[in-house]
Amino acid sequence: MSGSYIEPVNFASHLITWQLTHGRHNLPWQRSRDPYRVWLSEIMLQQTKVSTVIPYYLRFLERFPNVYALASASSDDVMVLWSGLGYYARARNLHKCAQIIVQKQYGGVFPKTIEQLVLLPGIGRSTAAAIAAFSFGVRSPILDGNVKRVLARIFGIEGFPGDKHIETAMWTLAQSLLPTDYEISKRVLNNIERCASVLIEPIIPYTQGLMDLGAMLCLRNRPDCSRCPFALVCVANLTNRQRELPASRLRKPAPMRHIMLLVLRSADRVLLEKRPPAGIWGGLWSLPEADDVNRLTKQAEQLSGQAVVLAPLASLIHSFTHFRLEIEVKFAKLSNEPQLAARVDMAWVCLDDISTYGLPAPIRKLLKSLVVI
Ligand code: ADE
Repeated sequence: MSGSYIEPVNFASHLITWQLTHGRHNLPWQRSRDPYRVWLSEIMLQQTKVSTVIPYYLRFLERFPNVYALASASSDDVMVLWSGLGYYARARNLHKCAQIIVQKQYGGVFPKTIEQLVLLPGIGRSTAAAIAAFSFGVRSPILDGNVKRVLARIFGIEGFPGDKHIETAMWTLAQSLLPTDYEISKRVLNNIERCASVLIEPIIPYTQGLMDLGAMLCLRNRPDCSRCPFALVCVANLTNRQRELPASRLRKPAPMRHIMLLVLRSADRVLLEKRPPAGIWGGLWSLPEADDVNRLTKQAEQLSGQAVVLAPLASLIHSFTHFRLEIEVKFAKLSNEPQLAARVDMAWVCLDDISTYGLPAPIRKLLKSLVVI
């Protein structure tokens, strides 16, 4: 790790001053320190940008205003409200976590320590620190992808931040940069007046400041160094290496998988199939699937009780974190009313009602386009 002239205490007080004057203060989850709301927002914000999360967050809270409401919901109801947000393991873990919190061990109360929070499903070390900071004022570092980028640039950290030893070094650095109550209150008081909350818990604007810097200025492409409070000490800025820092993983191209999906249509209805709980799109509703056209035809005939000929409908590619999925969609229109599928994981659904089912975004989009066919 190359050196930087910035002292930890300067870093924290600069960041807090900048956050209070230029950071974000009106995000919906900033109105509350209720750990349920903070937890929900932090899970939704994992790998997802603020503008995407806001409407999902508000809808979710309206439907499940507290951890008891969420814990007692069906997984289908949870998935409907998560549908389109992606990374569905987050929703399954969220639901599981709510069910754990309402049990006797926690009695509906979120634990306050990082050590206890990381034991809960879906909560890693950085998310635990964010929840603990925003809800309880706990002084602990966060280190998500955005923060890794900010630190790699300011401190000139070489190497891919996903590598274990680089990540470990970054956690150590992040810990060393945390505000100390004494220094912050002294320095920030000199700089700024509206700091009553800073005096008590500087970790809140500090943590938010790291997030804001990563999301507002220190962007992956085209960072706005002219407005950055660290421009004069940032190694990447001073050496013009914003593009090279942080280093990217030496990547093999993501492997491509191939599946076929069936749109079986009868009048204004299509047949949906619920996916198994594990695996891609686990627990969501989708379309019947097979590896090849013969098996898909066989399924279509079994499901409809009549001979069918499949026609090509669409071909799409969807990217997941570790692979890409080529989806070939086949179509058959039934001449007779089908027998209703007797399976609980199947449903004939009117095209106007598909938004009441939790569907992956590409499948929802595909089915929406059928409404006009
Ligand atoms: N990204 C992760 N957590 C966030 C938060 N609380 N506010 C804004 N962006 C975030």
